[in-house]
Amino acid sequence: MSIPPVLLKSDELFGEDRSEGLYDKSREISRYLLMHYGEPTDVFDRSSHPLAAAHGYPGRLSRMLEEAARATGTRVADMLDVGCNVGGVTHALSTWVADRVVGVDISPRSIEIARALTRGRGGSFSVAELGPFTRDIVLTLPEPAGRAAVEFEVGDAGALRGTDGGYDAVLLSNVLDRVDDPAACLAQFSGPAGILRGGGLLMIACPWSWYPEFSHPGVWLGSAHDRTSSAQALEQLMRDGYDLVAEQDQPGVLRQNPREYDYFEAHVTIWKKR
Ligand SMILES: C[S@@+](CC[C@H](N)C(=O)[O-])C[C@H]1O[C@@H](n2cnc3c(N)ncnc32)[C@H](O)[C@@H]1O
Repeated sequence: MSIPPVLLKSDELFGEDRSEGLYDKSREISRYLLMHYGEPTDVFDRSSHPLAAAHGYPGRLSRMLEEAARATGTRVADMLDVGCNVGGVTHALSTWVADRVVGVDISPRSIEIARALTRGRGGSFSVAELGPFTRDIVLTLPEPAGRAAVEFEVGDAGALRGTDGGYDAVLLSNVLDRVDDPAACLAQFSGPAGILRGGGLLMIACPWSWYPEFSHPGVWLGSAHDRTSSAQALEQLMRDGYDLVAEQDQPGVLRQNPREYDYFEAHVTIWKKR
C-alpha cells in the first residue's frame, strides 16, 4: 500500500507566507481542502453544530447538475470546472459524468495540490486549531474505477481553452465575483464558437460577494444606480442565448478555526444553451 502524499505540513500554516495570490496561501489551501474533502467530524467538533447543514457543498452542487442533466436529457461526457481550486467539486462531478472532467484554476499551488491528491488517491494536510495548535487530516479518494477521468490545469477563467465541439457542461462555482471581467468571462460560453456546445449546460454558483480587490465596481453584475440585483443582471445577460432550467440557494462553509467559520450561500442557476 502506498503512503499518501503530504499535501500541506503543519509548519506551513503559521509561518511567513510569501505566496503571491490569495488562493496560493497555505491557510487558504488548508481551508479549501477541508471544505472540499473533509468529513463533518473533521470540520465540526459536534454533530449539533449550528453550521452543520452547510457541510457537503461540492456533493450538493454535483447532484444538482446531475439532476438537471437528467431532467433535460443532456448527455454530459466532457465537462469543465472553472476556478476549481483543490478540485473537490471536480472529483464529485466525476462520479456521474461519462468520460472526463477538467478542472482549471489560476492558482498554480491549488492545481499542484489537486494533481498530487488525485495521483495519490488522497493525502494528508494540516488545519488550524485554536492558538498555535494544528491537526493533521488524512483524506482518501475512492477508487477511480467507474468514474470519469479527472484532469487539472492552470488557466485563466477569462481566456479559456475549448475542446473540439465544445464542452457538454461548464461549472463556474464561486468564481464570477473573483474574475476581473465577469461579463467577458460569461461571453466565452455564448455563440456557436463558444467553449460550451449548443444544448450544453452552464451552471453558475455565486454568493455575489464583490470586492474591489478582485474586480472594479463598474464591472460588477448588478447596479445600485438602476436598482438591479446581481441575479437580475445575470438573467439579462443570459436570456437571449439560454433557457433557465434550475435555480436554488446552496450553503457552504469554510473553517478558519474551531471558533470561526465563513458561511456563504451561493445563488445557483443552471442554464441550457440554445
Ligand atoms: C472562492 S474560490 C472557489 C473555489 C471553488 N470553485 C469552490 O466553489 O469551492 C475562487 C477560485 O477561483 C480561482 N480564480 C480566481 N480568478 C481566477 C481566474 N481569472 N481564472 C481561473 N481561476 C480563478 C481562485 O484561484 C480560487 O481557486
